[in-house]
Amino acid sequence: MYIRTLALQNFRSYESRSVDFDPGVNILTGKNGEGKTNMLEAVHILSMGRSFRTRNDAEAITFGKGFYHIKGLFEKEGEDLTVEAKMTGREKSFFVDGIGVRKSADLLDHALTVIFSPDDLRIVKDEPEKRRRFMDHELFQLKPLYYLDVIKYRRIVRNRNLLLKESDLNEHLLDIYDGYLAETGARIMAERARFTKRLAVISARIQARVTAPGADTAPAPDTDDVLEVSYEPGISPGEALTEGAEALQSVILESLRARRPKDREAGSTTAGPHKDDLKIVSGGVDLRKYGSQGQQRTAALALKLAEVDIIKEETGEMPILLLDDVLSELDAGRQKRLPESFEDCQIIITTAEVSKNLKAAFPDARRIEVSSGRL
Ligand SMILES: Nc1ncnc2c1ncn2[C@@H]1O[C@H](COP(=O)(O)OP(=O)(O)OP(=O)(O)O)[C@@H](O)[C@H]1O
Ligand SMILES: [Mg+2]
Repeated sequence: MYIRTLALQNFRSYESRSVDFDPGVNILTGKNGEGKTNMLEAVHILSMGRSFRTRNDAEAITFGKGFYHIKGLFEKEGEDLTVEAKMTGREKSFFVDGIGVRKSADLLDHALTVIFSPDDLRIVKDEPEKRRRFMDHELFQLKPLYYLDVIKYRRIVRNRNLLLKESDLNEHLLDIYDGYLAETGARIMAERARFTKRLAVISARIQARVTAPGADTAPAPDTDDVLEVSYEPGISPGEALTEGAEALQSVILESLRARRPKDREAGSTTAGPHKDDLKIVSGGVDLRKYGSQGQQRTAALALKLAEVDIIKEETGEMPILLLDDVLSELDAGRQKRLPESFEDCQIIITTAEVSKNLKAAFPDARRIEVSSGRL
């Protein structure tokens, strides 16, 4: 799929702007602070329902204005698709082909995007929460029901933690929470396990391609560089992980029961999918702890780009790839091999300077100049 036109009203630095994109590669250029990332942010909101830069989307309303309006004209499976986001004060609403979308879960599978921003270069290094969020974002677009489970799960953990802190513990209510947690948690774990399996295969393939020494020849990669990604659940699932959601449900329930005194003491739920992580190994070394900055970045890139392939596999649609200022962080070889991987993918790149490497990698790209919010 691709976005043809993006129209913005009162969105960050843009009071009223419209921009047309090429179905292939687009490079947004302009000096620092001119509004390049703002554009990607707007496309991301149409896709995921929220910004990737802030938790408070009201911040994106142009200073002094009361609302923003983002409208995207997409082409998906050869058909037109219009997605709109409106934010008035603190109220956000969405429309798909002019029809109001009641729940954000219903927005997520329309405009498909993968965003890669400088923050994401640290996915491998940062705390587990970042890697959980990475898994979740991908799965949200693939499975709106998963989104509902995650929202529900988070809410129950919050309530359960409050309950655990009360001096007079209501064991009966805790039993009810545990039941809900086990039910939703099991579905979440089953999805994450399944997703990680695909992620492992695809990210290893991408890593091998991106780090291959010769661009034209693609020799078997040095085994030291093979990327191994695996799911590290925040609870020991034993065999249950391969047996599906029902088996996982019993395991979670048992764990919650067994840990109740410990949780009570801690005043929080100490184990469960909210503690999940991804293990990322290359050359036998845990990259989270021991990887060099370059190794961590390359692995992060492989993980992110694997998202594109997984979305393509699961939905039959190529998502739009949004690259916010990350290419300049990669060496020339990696920059050059990147586009070969995504030939039929719309890519929107932001960069302050169009480097020689970038020009060589994307000779046919459409260049869009952004200046002081004006195009
Ligand atoms: N709510 C807002 N209202 C008006 N302007 C805003 C708002 N939020 C941010 N801006 C302006 O948007 C600009 C930043 O835009 P953006 O982050 O897209 O820049 P950029 O081109 O990506 O820069 P860089 O190259 O540094 O990444 C800043 O000048 C900022 O003042
Ligand atoms: Mg920027």
